[in-house]
Amino acid sequence: MRRDHWGSRLGFIMAAAGSAVGLGNIWKFPYMAGGHGGSAFLILYLAFVLGFGLALVIAELVLGRMSGRNPVGAFRVMAGGAWPLVGGIGVLTAVLILSFYCVVAGWTIAYLFYAIEGALDATSAGTLESLFNQLTGSGLAPLCYAAAFMAISVVIVSRGVGSGIERASKLFMPLLFVVLVVMTARAVTLPGAGAGIAFLLKPDLSAIDGETVSAALGQAFFSLSLGLGGLVTYGSYMRASAHIGRDALAVVLLDTLVAMLAGLLIIPAMFAAGMTPGAGGAGTTFKVLPAVFAALPGGHWIAIGFFALLTLAALTSSVSLLEPIVAWLGDEHDIARGRAAPLAGLACMVLAVPVSLSFGVWEHVRIMGYSIFGLLDFLTNNLSLPFGSLMTAIVVGWIIGPRAVAALGPDGRPVGAWAQAWLFVVRFVAPIGIVWILIQGLV
Ligand code: PHE
Repeated sequence: MRRDHWGSRLGFIMAAAGSAVGLGNIWKFPYMAGGHGGSAFLILYLAFVLGFGLALVIAELVLGRMSGRNPVGAFRVMAGGAWPLVGGIGVLTAVLILSFYCVVAGWTIAYLFYAIEGALDATSAGTLESLFNQLTGSGLAPLCYAAAFMAISVVIVSRGVGSGIERASKLFMPLLFVVLVVMTARAVTLPGAGAGIAFLLKPDLSAIDGETVSAALGQAFFSLSLGLGGLVTYGSYMRASAHIGRDALAVVLLDTLVAMLAGLLIIPAMFAAGMTPGAGGAGTTFKVLPAVFAALPGGHWIAIGFFALLTLAALTSSVSLLEPIVAWLGDEHDIARGRAAPLAGLACMVLAVPVSLSFGVWEHVRIMGYSIFGLLDFLTNNLSLPFGSLMTAIVVGWIIGPRAVAALGPDGRPVGAWAQAWLFVVRFVAPIGIVWILIQGLV
């Protein structure tokens, strides 16, 4: 079967940045940073993104382009033996992440409607809290929003790589960026925001412990879409002429910039509203943002624009979670895209039911001390993404090795001295770092 390809360099960068930039940046990063000491978390996060995140993004892309396969096929062709199992765990991880991703994205759609109705205009912290609890506490409504979100993702993925994923990303990503910059500029000038800026930017390492380290690593991987083979799959659609290192750098910088902007939006806004950082948990973004909208001229319209764009940002990420599943079903099991996408979407929706209920009627259900959402989040963020990245580093660094270095450049041309530094990071720095952090997280 002929493999699809990205239409242009910009198309790939926007699709890969669309994958990276999503709820992870705007929903998750602020409450993770807030709950783990602010600047301490940010410093670790940046260290992991630059220290080995970038190198691993390149590793996944090169594994994909060299093999031209889905995650399972890529490990089979390039490494053989039991390695395809790693790809299989990646595909399963994509299913697990999607099952909570669609729930949160569903909230975003609900908030888009609230914004249109004016329910977010001029509200107090108390009413915002109950608005969120009312939404997540009602059994059916959030599931319908999640299903609607999943249906759109399925339609985009069914349409294929170039006309579906790439076109959507090229349009929405730049718009989101502009709205985010405007909102952040307002948030940091709110009265009382200064303490929030200091909390995030003034270095204070006293909050660093094993848990913070492993949370920051997981967040870095989640945000960069690393560790489950999503980028392997996107790499398999890259043209021979693409310069993997340069394109990867652009994607990583964009993702990091958006996370920083979102952190500087939400956390100062929380301080301005008198909330303690970290207290809001998974609902933080939704409880805090309306206060920022209310403080902006034309806030009603900005709220509408913001939640519309956040939904779109979530979509360009959810398609990148669906795509490795669909590519696996297609490459390995000969199931056509048009059938594979709805099948995968349905599987994730089934799992989304308990996840959604765990924010409402099943709130008190505990498994190993975690809520259902908390457990899925922990398993994917803290275990399977680092594990998948570790295995990718071993395969690319040691099994493929110098051949991978030769495959980084456009049309096989050498790319310069940085490639050796890259190989060193993939061989030594990343594996040792990840193992050490995995152990920190478990003890
Ligand atoms: N990176 C996406 C986000 O930040 C989530 C994601 C994780 C997408 C893993 C693909 C693979 O929202």
